[in-house]
Amino acid sequence: MGSHTTENNVKDTHLIPFVAEVHLRVLKKWVLSHEDLILFGGPSAFTYPLSDEEWRAFLGVTSEKRSSFMVTDDRDGAFLGFAQIREMSPTTKRLCRLLVGQSEMRGQGIGKKMVRALLEQCFQDPNCTHVELNVYTHNARAIRCYAQCGFCAAPLSVPNPSDTQDWQAIRMIRSREVLV
Ligand SMILES: CC(C)(COP(=O)(O)OP(=O)(O)OC[C@H]1O[C@@H](n2cnc3c(N)ncnc32)[C@H](O)[C@@H]1OP(=O)(O)O)[C@@H](O)C(=O)NCCC(=O)NCCS
Repeated sequence: MGSHTTENNVKDTHLIPFVAEVHLRVLKKWVLSHEDLILFGGPSAFTYPLSDEEWRAFLGVTSEKRSSFMVTDDRDGAFLGFAQIREMSPTTKRLCRLLVGQSEMRGQGIGKKMVRALLEQCFQDPNCTHVELNVYTHNARAIRCYAQCGFCAAPLSVPNPSDTQDWQAIRMIRSREVLV
């Protein structure tokens, strides 16, 4: 594990709506293999590399229940990552497809800033009491990032095998009340 990050130096992040016509070309440069695709997006019917049409279907950009965001650097608007919020029920939202785009930028605190911005967005809905996510058990960096943002492994979560890799996923969840 790398050294712990001091958050003072970390870029402040901002969420802007994902517009496929503008942003897909950026996202495509960050996902460079089938393994990257699964780590980022979970099991799906798609095989890397995806055509633009397949990318749109994979991301579900037309779904009303899914909001997609580009994560930008608050100071200069540079693209840092991507994330989605999916509405699971009136009270529960799910964070999906979280990605800090450039691999060398990972592990420096951007993910935590991004997750906190997403949580703020979720809890702007007064009916939202819980935010959940699924993560592969070997993705230690992601799990640490989510734990530091108040997520805990869901008590009843049953590991789900990926249909394309022998990877197990767990669900993590946090309530509105957790203060971090
Ligand atoms: C998951 C992801 C979004 C997290 O963002 P990030 O910017 O890397 O996360 P952060 O730096 O904010 O937090 C990661 C924490 O794990 C630590 N860490 C780094 N490498 C680690 C490792 N190999 N094992 C355990 N912890 C590790 C970091 O030090 C940091 O902890 P700290 O704040 O105590 O220093 C990012 O790594 C990513 O895009 N990964 C590829 C795609 C992916 O896995 N998406 C998740 C889908 S569920």
